[in-house]
Amino acid sequence: MTFLDQAQEALTQGFDTARGAVSGVAMEQLGFVRGFVRLCNDGWDQGWHERNGGNLTYRLTDEDVETARKFFDKEPREWTPMGVEVPSLGGAYFLTTGTGNYMRNVAGNPKKNIGIVQLNETGDAYRIVWGLIDGGRPTSEFPTHVMNHAVRVAATDGECRVIYHAHPTNVIAMTFVLPLDSRTFTRVLWKAMTECVVVFPQGVGVVPWMVPGGADIAKATSELMKDHDAVVWAQHGLFVSGATFDSTFGLLHTIEKAADIYGKARMMNGGSDAFMNTITDEGLRQIAKDFNISINESYLD
Ligand code: 13P
Ligand code: ZN
Repeated sequence: MTFLDQAQEALTQGFDTARGAVSGVAMEQLGFVRGFVRLCNDGWDQGWHERNGGNLTYRLTDEDVETARKFFDKEPREWTPMGVEVPSLGGAYFLTTGTGNYMRNVAGNPKKNIGIVQLNETGDAYRIVWGLIDGGRPTSEFPTHVMNHAVRVAATDGECRVIYHAHPTNVIAMTFVLPLDSRTFTRVLWKAMTECVVVFPQGVGVVPWMVPGGADIAKATSELMKDHDAVVWAQHGLFVSGATFDSTFGLLHTIEKAADIYGKARMMNGGSDAFMNTITDEGLRQIAKDFNISINESYLD
């Protein structure tokens, strides 16, 4: 970059910062940041985020990037390899929670606990352009998030923008007592509460216990995300995806509530899963028909 280019950029940055200051707008007040922060807080309120448990990423729209750019750091930080490669998302920007940071602290200090990162053109490295101050880094599950974004963007024609990971108690408890396969979990959850099949008609995937935070669990999860928008991690938690913060949070909330009901029903039933009453497969088919949704038939008898 020539001296003149640098001078021009410094000037533009200065104007943009001044513009932000004059209008009284800050990054924290932009709609997508507020939605992100609210979800973090809602998840904390639900009890899904002990200590630094859980993480969240949002893929910015082009308009988001344009409104946010004036608040970006003057100098982006260094490129960091991700250990996975997602060429389809090369150049994309994500708002992400920081590794080791607590969901309960996000609302009080967004700039410290969350940040915006940009992927390089080949999609195998990122750099921080805003937030995560004081040496913060994106979540350790960033490789899983980015790979999930890539497969969900492809599966939803670009609709998917949010990937959310939490440690909801009842879903985790279920992974101790059921065979760890997608069909078993899907059927139990669909039958726990009538509207589940409407909320997640493709069912849930299940990843057996694995070491978190690396490329292997990222690949296993994204494989299942190709045809599910929710994936359970045995003895760990849940990953969900969606177009909006509302639909993504609502999906995780619904799955966790269904798991809660299933656990309570089994306890009331002396631990047995041989319930007196249940939703039949025919009943599930009827809901799908009446609500005009395409259900994953391979999970029905
Ligand atoms: P981070 O603090 O790195 O986001 O990790 C939390 C977590 O839930 C790992 O699975
Ligand atoms: Zn976790």
